[in-house]
Amino acid sequence: MKRRIGILTSGGDCPGLNATIRGVAKACYEQFGSEVEIVGIQDGYSGLINNQCKLMQPNDFSGILTTGGTIFGTKRTPFREMRVIGEDNVDKVKSMKKTYKDQKLDCLLTLGGNGTHKTANLLAEEGLHVIGLPKTIDNDIWGTSVTFGFHTAVDIATDVIDRLHTTANSHGRILVVEIMGNKAGWLTLYAGVAGGADMIVIPEIPYDINKLAAACEKRANEGKGFSILAVAEGAMDTEEAKMKKKERAKSRADAGLTTASNRIAGEIQTMTGLETRVCVPGHMLRGGSPSAYDRILATQFGVYAAQLIKEENYGMAVAKVGDVITANRLKDVAGKTKFVPADDQMVRTAREIGISFGD
Ligand code: F6P
Repeated sequence: MKRRIGILTSGGDCPGLNATIRGVAKACYEQFGSEVEIVGIQDGYSGLINNQCKLMQPNDFSGILTTGGTIFGTKRTPFREMRVIGEDNVDKVKSMKKTYKDQKLDCLLTLGGNGTHKTANLLAEEGLHVIGLPKTIDNDIWGTSVTFGFHTAVDIATDVIDRLHTTANSHGRILVVEIMGNKAGWLTLYAGVAGGADMIVIPEIPYDINKLAAACEKRANEGKGFSILAVAEGAMDTEEAKMKKKERAKSRADAGLTTASNRIAGEIQTMTGLETRVCVPGHMLRGGSPSAYDRILATQFGVYAAQLIKEENYGMAVAKVGDVITANRLKDVAGKTKFVPADDQMVRTAREIGISFGD
C-alpha cells in the first residue's frame, strides 16, 4: 500500500524541528520502504495554501539531527485568519484541501505550537488525515508534559543567567534577564531555577513591584551586592493583571513603557537606587543545535508519529505524558494552553529555596 505523507513546520521555529522531521522520515522509510513518499511543504500552512511542495528523497533527511531551524522553512499564518478571505481573494481552507488532494497526500504531519494545532484540528474537521507534533520553546501545549525545543531553550537561558551572575557580581548590579514566553512562564521558571535566579517573574503569577524591589534591597542589606531577576516576556503586575490584553497594551504605550524587563528594571532602579541592567537574549533562545534531550525526544515523537500513520490513527496530537510517548485527540488539544499552575511543584521548589515571585 503506497503512502504519501506531507510534512510542514509552522509558527515560531525552535531547536529540534529537523530532528523530529528526521525521526518521522527515518521511521517511515524503515517501516514502509519504497511504499512511502514524503512531501516537504514550504513555510508552514502558507506552503499548503499555495501548493509549494517538494518530493523529498531519503538522503534529504540525513545530517539534520543536529541542525537548528527547519529544512522546510516556517511562517506564522494565524488561525484566526484561516477562514477569513482577504484582499487576495484566496479561500485558505479550500486551497489547503486542494493542495492535499493535488499532492495525493494520505496524511499531513504538522509540527508546531498552539496555533498550529488549532489549524491542524480545523483541517482534521474538514476531513484531512492530520497528526500534530508538539513544538515550542514555551512548553505550553496542553496534554503533553514537554514539547521539543523547550529543554534546549532552558539550557541556553540557563547559560545566559550563569554568565550574568559573574558580571552582576563584579559590578554589584541588579540584572534583569527577559526570557521568551508571552503567555506561559515555563521557560523562565525552569531556567530561573537552573540558573539560580533570585527572583522569577512569570505571567501566571502577577508581581507587586514593591515586593521585587524589597527583595533586591534585602539581598543588598545582607551583603549580597547583586540580584538576578528572570522575567518572562509576558510578565505583568497585579494592576495590569486586572486589565484585558488590549487595555494593558494601551496603558503601557501611554506610559511609554516597553518590554517587561525594561519596566521592571526602571522601577527597581528608581525605588532602590541600585544600579540595574537589562539583558534580552530573545531569539537566541530559539537558535542553534538541539540538546541531547531534545534530539532524543524529537526522535521518539517522530517514531511515534510513524506508528500512528501505520495504524491510520489520525486526528491525533503526539505527546509525552510522564515517561510515556503517547497521543491525545487533536480536538482535545486545540484551543487550550498549558499554563504554569500557581501551586506547580517547580514553583513550590523555587519558593522553598527562597526565590521570590514578587507576589
Ligand atoms: O512561541 C514561541 C515564541 O518564541 C514566544 O516565546 C515568543 O513570544 C514568540 O515566539 C516570538 O515570536 P516571533 O517569532 O514572532 O518573534
